[in-house]
Amino acid sequence: MRQINQFTITDAVKDSFKTEEGSRFKFLLEGFITHLHDYTREVNMTHQEWMGILNFLYDCGKISTPERHEFILLSDVLGFSALVDMLNTRGGATEGSNLGPFYLDDAPILELGADLARGRDGTSLLVHGIVRDSLGNPLPGAIVDTWQADGTGTYPIQEQASGQDKFDLRGKMTANEKGEYYYTTVLPKPYTVPYDGPVGDLLRAGNRHAWRAAHLHYIVRAPGMRAITTELFFENTEYIDNDAVFGVRKSLIAKLEPVKKNEEFAFALETRPDAKCRFDFVLAPEG
Ligand code: BEZ
Ligand code: FE
Repeated sequence: MRQINQFTITDAVKDSFKTEEGSRFKFLLEGFITHLHDYTREVNMTHQEWMGILNFLYDCGKISTPERHEFILLSDVLGFSALVDMLNTRGGATEGSNLGPFYLDDAPILELGADLARGRDGTSLLVHGIVRDSLGNPLPGAIVDTWQADGTGTYPIQEQASGQDKFDLRGKMTANEKGEYYYTTVLPKPYTVPYDGPVGDLLRAGNRHAWRAAHLHYIVRAPGMRAITTELFFENTEYIDNDAVFGVRKSLIAKLEPVKKNEEFAFALETRPDAKCRFDFVLAPEG
């Protein structure tokens, strides 16, 4: 019989799985077992700590619903989601950032120049730019799919009980023949990730806050190009240096500029904005 001790157990567990030689599954599973065991030995884990971890995961499962995925939130606050985003950003393409829990893939179609804010309180913001490929060529027909919180830091989808339309403050627009997109909206405010569950307890235990820097979400797609999921942040705004889910990247911070009194725009807008920002998206080829 094989001698199992605190060192040989790692290989014994790996060998117990009869996974396909050379497969990605084998690679992922064996790496996970190795790191889990190394960590356990390194910290000399007690029974109490081991049970604490398992109960924490149990609580994450218990509070999760189809609308609330506590494990994704856990991944977010541990920087796991951000790390996966970084590893999957293609060289030359816009950096990826959090999808978050509020995306709807059946958002309404928006005309270029439309106003997403529809009279909401707050600063009216023009967002515009060009969708390009990594060589700088515009990508006419690219789809810019956006969603965001309002001027109080709330997503309409969170307020359906008080009569808000879940499709407000979101939409898909098609870049014009020059690859340009442009629309007005309300400047979003920061908001907190849900902190009334086990992940909130973890944040409190670590003396961390739950605030996200104000942001706009995007998924940008174009035929033959790899889609990007990303976020746009604003220079010198609160939590830009300590976003609770590590979503901010330097390259994703846009400059907010006031709109001058008689300033004219090269494109037709439904609403005259108070402020503007420009952000170009760069997509890399598929594959
Ligand atoms: C968001 O950006 O919408 C978000 C991201 C992570 C957790 C909660 C919300
Ligand atoms: Fe968000």
